[in-house]
Amino acid sequence: RTIHRSDYQPPDWLVETVHLDFDLSLDATTVSATLGIRRNGSHDRPLRLDEDGAIPEVIRVDGKAVAYTRDSGQLILPVGSETATVTFTTTIDPSANTQLMGLFASNGMLCTQCEAEGFRRIIPFVDRPDNMAVYTVRMEADRAAFPILLANGEKVAEGDLDDGRHFAEWHDRWPKPSYLFALVAGQLVANRDSFTTASGMDVDLAIWVRDGDLDRTGHAMQALKNSMRWDEQVYGREYDLPVFNIVAVSDFNMGAMENKGLNIFNSRYILADADTASDLDFDGVEGVVAHEYFHNWSGNRVTCRDWFQLSLKEGFTVYRDQCFSADMGSEAVKRIEDVRILRAAQFPEDNGPLAHPIRPDSYQEISNFYTATVYNKGAEVIRMMATMVGPKRFRAGTDLYFDRHDGEAATCEDFVRAIEEGAGINLSQFRLWYSQAGTPHVTARVEHDDASGTAALHLTQTIPATPGQPDKQPMLIPLRIAAHDRAKNAPGSEQLVLLGEAEASVSLGRFSEPPVLSFNRGFSAPIIAEVARNPGDLAWLAAHDDDPFARYEALQALMLDTLVARVSGGDASHDAVVAAVGNTLASWASDPAFVAEACALPSEAFVGDQMLVVDPDAIRRERRALQRSIGQTHEALLRTIHAGTATNATELSPTAKGMRKLHSLALMLLWASDAADAPALAFAQFAQAGGMTDRQAALGILAHMDAPERQTALDAFYARYHDNQLVLDKWFTTQAFSLRADTPEVVAALAQHPDFTLGNPNRVRSLYGAFAGNQASFHDASGRGYALLADLVIALDPKNPQTAARMIPPLGRWKRFDESRARLMREALERILETPDLSRDVTEQASKSLAG
Ligand code: ARG
Ligand code: ZN
Repeated sequence: RTIHRSDYQPPDWLVETVHLDFDLSLDATTVSATLGIRRNGSHDRPLRLDEDGAIPEVIRVDGKAVAYTRDSGQLILPVGSETATVTFTTTIDPSANTQLMGLFASNGMLCTQCEAEGFRRIIPFVDRPDNMAVYTVRMEADRAAFPILLANGEKVAEGDLDDGRHFAEWHDRWPKPSYLFALVAGQLVANRDSFTTASGMDVDLAIWVRDGDLDRTGHAMQALKNSMRWDEQVYGREYDLPVFNIVAVSDFNMGAMENKGLNIFNSRYILADADTASDLDFDGVEGVVAHEYFHNWSGNRVTCRDWFQLSLKEGFTVYRDQCFSADMGSEAVKRIEDVRILRAAQFPEDNGPLAHPIRPDSYQEISNFYTATVYNKGAEVIRMMATMVGPKRFRAGTDLYFDRHDGEAATCEDFVRAIEEGAGINLSQFRLWYSQAGTPHVTARVEHDDASGTAALHLTQTIPATPGQPDKQPMLIPLRIAAHDRAKNAPGSEQLVLLGEAEASVSLGRFSEPPVLSFNRGFSAPIIAEVARNPGDLAWLAAHDDDPFARYEALQALMLDTLVARVSGGDASHDAVVAAVGNTLASWASDPAFVAEACALPSEAFVGDQMLVVDPDAIRRERRALQRSIGQTHEALLRTIHAGTATNATELSPTAKGMRKLHSLALMLLWASDAADAPALAFAQFAQAGGMTDRQAALGILAHMDAPERQTALDAFYARYHDNQLVLDKWFTTQAFSLRADTPEVVAALAQHPDFTLGNPNRVRSLYGAFAGNQASFHDASGRGYALLADLVIALDPKNPQTAARMIPPLGRWKRFDESRARLMREALERILETPDLSRDVTEQASKSLAG
């Protein structure tokens, strides 16, 4: 059954107050619910409550038992009055809840995940985000097993009961949709701190974890306080309750959840210390803590009318967390990382069978739409608006948005209109970014007239057809550009071009020789740029552009052009790349973070994305060959860099993080150069590492090798960390990422390892998610990789359909591969679809992927 955005109707009945009384236990929890309902508008339709398995035996309306019927996921009951009180009791088994939606057990504790449609697994309800209610929650449980009882809002009562039992009652004064409901019960300890808001309210902060994890919560706490201050300073948004709780949970489908006053996190985005977390992990903690905190305004105070509007809260909140992380660290590096993620995760989605606009028009299962498109392209769309109006006017627009819609369930259109009015800009054409899927292709060509000296920029845009959208209209694309005069030694001034037509020309001014075009600076628009440029221009930009992103982009483009030419059978020389990389490497000491970003080769997958038909083996071979050339030519410099960056293993400043990134990049290139001592060098970095960043990177490089140091290091890592779930995930991932030819067999064997389990989504992703991202290994010509992934999806679907469905998209890229691989990929999808009793989640993803 497909749900369409155009079918939206407000609910017939609203639940306005909710009293929930939980009698908690791991395998039989009862929930007594009292719902205050009101007829919405004048009609005589019955009350419909969404349900998913938790069915009351008796439902009473104003105290009288009523007969109800069931119809496709809803309970239907007659209500005669305008308002009424509905009461019932459900019984659920959290320990049997392997879907991890609704109320579930994780490591002896109880917790909830209700977004998007998990609340109906606890009680039948008007389980849609435009129903906002005030919740009061009483929890009762055995005190020894569940000493800590948390829910949204504030604790209003607590006390002891007979038989070693106790209770707590929480009240949340902010009306909220059911997807923001949360409770947690368990043996937890807290890192406590406090924060005083700009208007002087004291907030008690607590991060709740299991006993042994307390000393790994410091980074998350600092990130939380920084986020709270940042949202006050940058958006004028203050926190609005006297308590803010965060709980870390080890079994979690997604990253984290912004439940009002009680954020629940995948423990990987809370727990971090130098011994167990890499710089990437530390940044992930900071970014996700900020993301969930920022949802308090962009998501909770102003929520979504329906799930088609998901990007209203997610795109905006991702944009906000990206800007926050940029302010906390290096803006240039953050932008490069975010664009890399967009290109790796979103561009393929936009170019495949699952392409959808950031505001989808239809879905079968909403869980399948928590995508890189809704989140990351959604953030780019917000960023483009901010770029066009500048920070002050953008702030005026968001002020108007928050003012106007506080307490409401809003739409993407509401946001755009608030920016239009608050910032003073006409966004009528820009709205196409919400409705058209597909990554625009923009071509750029500079024309220089020798006689007059004038230079012009000629632009075109095309938006490829996507499923259900054969024809596209030109979009409004904001392009930051500059034209550099090679003769002068100063960069040209920047201009913002608003490309709104299929073709347009822009004057660049007068130049004695053709200027060098710096295009889409800062990646101002999420497009694929096709710029007619020669390698000399790219090398010049890599060395001289004043925009760091453009410098990065130029060097990457040079590498990409060379790789694509060679993979396609040409014999393009490595020389230009090797020289440009050497030139950039030479400035390693002054800007290590940037140098490390710029000199890392594009991923195998990104090279593949440039080709009509991906040749994974040739890409692996040519990428390695280019690394070898770089490594061999610059061996001495790389040794100097590797030695010179082994400075501080744990400091979290942008420079120290950049040094570590560069340290391991140098090691990687030395290994690729076939230096005889590479295994020893890598093993030394591994064994002597002062923190996880250096250790994990060295292990990752050792994992590619045949030398005996490989197994020694993997065994040592396992021995040291096998009790730490999050670090053990790295052990699985490292092997699944290996460039060795035997990786498919290794992955198959690891799936049988005693530490592998389908019960933990992080563990599933650590092995299979990593493997599916290892292009040439996953696309092994035998089809073995596809079979492995299909086996996983089939085995996981009955337990956890949401996580199973998220593993399917790599199989959907079959159109991009040769006949033989494409057939094997389709066979894997067909085998999934032939499985009886498939979930809605997997059915939707697999059937759309197969259709192409
Ligand atoms: N709103 C959460 C976040 O982005 C994601 C929760 C999604 N959960 C799910 N089961 N689909 O911060
Ligand atoms: Zn979010």
